[in-house]
Amino acid sequence: MYLGIDLGTSAIKALLMRAEGDVVATASAPLTVQNPQPGWSEQDPDDWIRGCEAAVAQLQRTHPDAFAAVSGIGLSGQMHGATVLDATDNPLRPAILWNDTRSHVEAAALDADPRFRVVTGNIVFPGFTAPKLVWLATHEPDVYRQVRKVLLPKDYVRLWLTGEHASDLSDASGTSWLDVSRRQWSADLLAATHLDVSHMPRLVEGTERSGQLRSELAHAWGLDGSIPVAGGAGDNAAAAVALGIVADDMAFVSLGTSGVLFVANNGFRPNPEHAVHAFCHALPGHWHQMGVILSATDSLSWLSMLTGVSPQDLTAELGPPLQPPTGALVLPYFSGERTPHNDARIRGAMLGLDRSMDRSALTRATLEGVAFALKDCLRALEATGVRISRVTITGGGAASSYWQSTLATVLDVTIDVPADGGFGAGLGAARLAQIAAEGCPPSAVCVTPEILHSVAPDEALKGAFEEAYERFRAAYLRLRD
Ligand code: XUL
Repeated sequence: MYLGIDLGTSAIKALLMRAEGDVVATASAPLTVQNPQPGWSEQDPDDWIRGCEAAVAQLQRTHPDAFAAVSGIGLSGQMHGATVLDATDNPLRPAILWNDTRSHVEAAALDADPRFRVVTGNIVFPGFTAPKLVWLATHEPDVYRQVRKVLLPKDYVRLWLTGEHASDLSDASGTSWLDVSRRQWSADLLAATHLDVSHMPRLVEGTERSGQLRSELAHAWGLDGSIPVAGGAGDNAAAAVALGIVADDMAFVSLGTSGVLFVANNGFRPNPEHAVHAFCHALPGHWHQMGVILSATDSLSWLSMLTGVSPQDLTAELGPPLQPPTGALVLPYFSGERTPHNDARIRGAMLGLDRSMDRSALTRATLEGVAFALKDCLRALEATGVRISRVTITGGGAASSYWQSTLATVLDVTIDVPADGGFGAGLGAARLAQIAAEGCPPSAVCVTPEILHSVAPDEALKGAFEEAYERFRAAYLRLRD
């Protein structure tokens, strides 16, 4: 039995997977995000540990026999967050998360140093880790002076599990300190932010062992022997492992808090000019690209907050069938945007509201706006030469069949809906645990899921959505100015 732990933004999830690959049980504990100022997004690292304890306790309670058979643990998590620790491994302040844009000035300054794009193959986005440390140096110098280690969120959970400072290459790719093609820390880039390799965790591949469960924890959890903890992965690479998206040009779209269009690559294919992310994959010798938008289901959560109706009920009010575009445009830049604009200061907009539009029209316009933003990601990826004709869908928003049809039509791709799409990154983490523990070939474990059904583009509506997309693109340029 393998335990996958996925540290998300809104919840930490734990999952038990049998060696045959089927999921036996899941549990989760909610997490909250603090926004003490506009553009800020923080969490208390010790809430992650409390959440992990609660989710694990739930599994132990509901599935005692399965839990007692755990022989490996894998981790996945929200990427990019800065967890800064003092000499005794205590967090010096709340972690600054992936969707925090306070360090946009520092990010632009690092990005202007040509070494960053050359070595990392990526823009230094404000959400990435390095600019956050530069921000701390200026705005919280007392904290900065005490920093001895900088860990990504899931790696703080690993520290608690194993006592080790370690990270995996897919997650480390989002720090702006990794030489992504060589799969190692760049001493040069660390020095450019007045840090060195001693501030960084040791690097392992996602499929390698990073340490073993501390004996006190193993004892408390009733587990015998040494339990290896795999390197694991950033949440997107872990979701790809769960969906079997490892071979060249295979792709998935994720509708989570953020939205991601992910494609696996056999080689390193950077394209920072179009704000594409080019990162190490969780498997040795593999890389991947992503277009990332900052507000996917988060846009719907915002509408839900305004209307007092849950996101599930908002989307349940819609068809089938897919309707023509609403005519209203939602620009889902509620927290700024990464791909393709790299614009931390842009904010969302609703345009073209008509007196006849009711709540469901606004829901549709929101789903359309997110689909258009993901089409921007598709175009950015295509500019690197990849061709995507089908994608597997995952994430909380994937449950909406109206959103599936909107996306298939806007992106002009076939969307495969997995039978058990809900397991996501936690399943990927458990699969990486199995590879690390058993030493089995990744290809035997990273298989594609059973597909429940496939959604084709609506040919009759494609033209109308194409026109609406062109208006969406033009609107960003006007809004920016
Ligand atoms: C990826 C990114 C997000 C977070 C969300 O670059 O920032 O997808 O990983 O958890």
